[in-house]
Amino acid sequence: MDFVNPDIEKYAMAFSSPEPEVLQRLSRDTQAKILKPRMLSGHLQGRFLSFVSRMLKPRRILEIGTYTGYSAICLAEGLTGDGILHTIDHNAELEDFARVYFKMAGVDHQVKQHIGEALDILPLLDDTFDLVFIDADKPNYIRYFEILYPRLREGAIVLADNALWSGKVLDSEESMDDDTAGIARFNRYIREHPGVYHVLLPFRDGVMLIEKTGKHQ
Ligand SMILES: C[S@@+](CC[C@H](N)C(=O)[O-])C[C@H]1O[C@@H](n2cnc3c(N)ncnc32)[C@H](O)[C@@H]1O
Repeated sequence: MDFVNPDIEKYAMAFSSPEPEVLQRLSRDTQAKILKPRMLSGHLQGRFLSFVSRMLKPRRILEIGTYTGYSAICLAEGLTGDGILHTIDHNAELEDFARVYFKMAGVDHQVKQHIGEALDILPLLDDTFDLVFIDADKPNYIRYFEILYPRLREGAIVLADNALWSGKVLDSEESMDDDTAGIARFNRYIREHPGVYHVLLPFRDGVMLIEKTGKHQ
């Protein structure tokens, strides 16, 4: 669900940098061939991810939830020349599709695809991250964050998508499904975490924007 009036969203797109041709193609191809194309980041969210990445100029990016590669390509736009983006997805059937687009976007040499459960793969990644995008498996957002926190450099940014989950975070706790409860728990956990600075943006389906301050007041 989008929280912004659709006409306003169209206007915002018209006054944002255009969606690169390769992403327009990826988007069309995903809609035509892949299940659940709603999962794709769109033009506006993609430009937002690209903007954040270009600001940070990260050397190490981690993404949980590759899907067809749209957000990974956007995030890779800000990587340093020697930078690497690790992206994880448990759906092996999407691997080749995404790889074709990483090549087309000219970022294949900087993208490492990992196929498997995020909870199994995360402990194996021997790296420190500057930018993280969490976009899969809502009930485990807290576990992902706990595993990653020690491996974020101070000042690193974590973006957690779907932080408003179509507005369902406002439902009463008893009526929440597992995904909604997972998101609501994560939002509370971040609010109580002493080592972060954060803002929940009511943009698209809600993005929790988190900086690791490392200062445990
Ligand atoms: C919302 S989609 C990601 C969309 C993508 N980030 C984008 O913006 O274009 C979520 C993806 O996470 C993957 N996924 C779900 N649960 C997972 C898990 N436990 N471990 C790894 N991948 C998972 C799904 O297969 C799906 O491709």
